[in-house]
Amino acid sequence: MCWRDPVSEKLQQASTLVALNALQHETMDGYLLSALECFTALDLEGGLAALCQFNEALQAHAAHEEQYMLPVFDGVGRQDGELPRGASIDILEGDHVSLARLSTRSHEAAIALDANRPDLRRQVVLMLPQIYRLRSVFEHHTVREQELVYPLLDRQLVADAHQRLLASLRQ
Ligand SMILES: [Fe+2]
Ligand SMILES: [Fe+2]
Repeated sequence: MCWRDPVSEKLQQASTLVALNALQHETMDGYLLSALECFTALDLEGGLAALCQFNEALQAHAAHEEQYMLPVFDGVGRQDGELPRGASIDILEGDHVSLARLSTRSHEAAIALDANRPDLRRQVVLMLPQIYRLRSVFEHHTVREQELVYPLLDRQLVADAHQRLLASLRQ
């Protein structure tokens, strides 16, 4: 029997940009939740591994969006006269910069935890807000893309351009 990764199967089946982006963001949020679960159980190795997974997935996803989606979105905005309020190219790129910075900070804070000190639980408690901050900015960015960016692209792109963008963002 052949084992199939259910998430990558769903990614292949997603026929709208909204659905594809939602799946990709859910996967990334899952890494953050795993990190929080591990750190609250004082599993530093597991927590760090989950943060690394988040960071790698975020970098790849943001790079694809910047390379393939933002130029198309900018073009749609020019056709319509303007982009929706709260979803300018500058705002979207700014979100990616903030997320990368907060992800690096969370990673650095996790690396700085010292398992040999007797106050490990206290160190973890003081570090967790860093991850919650990252998750909250990520949630905000997800809403922006799911409500303002991808629905507009799903509606406005002609079939060819829509398929091309779906394929580029699936990578
Ligand atoms: Fe996204
Ligand atoms: Fe994004």
